[in-house]
Amino acid sequence: MDISIIGAGHVGLVTGACFADLGNRVVMVDHDTKRITALKAGTMPFYEPGLEELVHRGVADKRLRFTSSMKEAVDQGLIIFICVGTPSRPNGEADLSAVEHVCRQIASALRSYRLIVEKSTVPVETGEWIKRTMQLAVRKGVPYDVASNPEFLREGQAVQDFMNPDRIVLGVESKRAKALLLELYQPLKAPVVVTDVKSAELIKHASNSFLAVKISFINAIAQLCDWVGADVVKVAEGMGLDKRIGRAFLDAGVGYGGFCLPKDTAAFIRIAEKHGFDFQLLKAAASLNTEQRQRFVKRIAQTLWNLNTKTVGVLGLAFKPNTDDLRYAPSIEIIQMLQDEGAAIRAFDPKAMAQANGLFTGVTFCRDVYETARGADCLVVITEWNEFKELDFARIKKLMRQPVIVDGRNIYDPDSLRRLGFRYVGIGRGQGSG
Ligand code: UDX
Repeated sequence: MDISIIGAGHVGLVTGACFADLGNRVVMVDHDTKRITALKAGTMPFYEPGLEELVHRGVADKRLRFTSSMKEAVDQGLIIFICVGTPSRPNGEADLSAVEHVCRQIASALRSYRLIVEKSTVPVETGEWIKRTMQLAVRKGVPYDVASNPEFLREGQAVQDFMNPDRIVLGVESKRAKALLLELYQPLKAPVVVTDVKSAELIKHASNSFLAVKISFINAIAQLCDWVGADVVKVAEGMGLDKRIGRAFLDAGVGYGGFCLPKDTAAFIRIAEKHGFDFQLLKAAASLNTEQRQRFVKRIAQTLWNLNTKTVGVLGLAFKPNTDDLRYAPSIEIIQMLQDEGAAIRAFDPKAMAQANGLFTGVTFCRDVYETARGADCLVVITEWNEFKELDFARIKKLMRQPVIVDGRNIYDPDSLRRLGFRYVGIGRGQGSG
């Protein structure tokens, strides 16, 4: 099929590269001409496992190409996916100005039937606004449909998630739109939920908000575990075996970050408010999430006493492993709070150092874990990269000023570290958190 993708961000680039890999002809447009030039030269705008190979293959096989011309994209693609950014406005609402802008551009370039699909994460009723905007700008008599097809891919495993989705959600208003999207997704052989546009839009915000609530729930349990001396890892295991609950997203830690969960919960709270509903459950999840970072810094202070004379080694800056994304990363707030207390920071991240360089001030960036440990009074784990899980702790102990580990992702076994002579502090690890 002929597909156009508008917006070469995480959702757009992964979607386009995967559709090309499934045999479709894909043209991708972005208003950032530098990004398009770099992509044409084979350079990726961000790190995502497996994506670079996929893009190179698509371009080499002439199934994927990049352009800065919206007209070219509208002319080529029978199905046009809107994948532009919908960042947060200061009041938490989603900023939809980019969506509106591309709708006007599509409308003015439209000459024959096109299916316009919103794939960016958007609040409910955005489809209505897209239709209204199109109606005002499109040439008389030119047919089109508007549909919703939210994306559920996770950063760090986006290609795998796209190619093996738990479900595909289609919000459609015509038989033609339904048939086109079912045909396009047929090769993925995944369960398909076909519904109306508003329900499809809500599925996305509701899903992300539910994940945020689940994470904040286990973080609340972790607080309780710290108070009563229980082990949240065991509690999560016991809860997660209940099929109605599921073990996924029950990893207690420093709280959720990234460009999606914080922004989508904030936007969902605002939408609910607009419709007269005070979404207290989500507000609680969001404030618990903020609290979790503050509690983490307090634990470090309780462990080290005067932070203003201490050096803290930070392991992990990205908001999660397998990505170089620092947007709404917990490390940003945690390092800021530690610096506010006067601590000196040494830090390492396997992929996000280039991005971190422009974001953090007064931080000593190190080339690996061992250099980060050199002269540190404690090592704190903020991102659970695999390469942090098996370390030469005897060597680390020699390098550190005092053998203290504050594990913000519960990646270590408290007893083994204690046997090696470390003081270990986890998140809700009960006896192991002393
Ligand atoms: C999320 C949704 O998972 C995905 O479906 C949607 O399309 C986009 O938003 P992403 O932001 O890439 O994906 O990250 P995710 O894997 O959901 O993690 C979000 C945050 O929650 C990360 O900071 C992660 O560290 C944290 N997290 C996740 C926990 O603290 N505990 C968990 O058990 C799981």
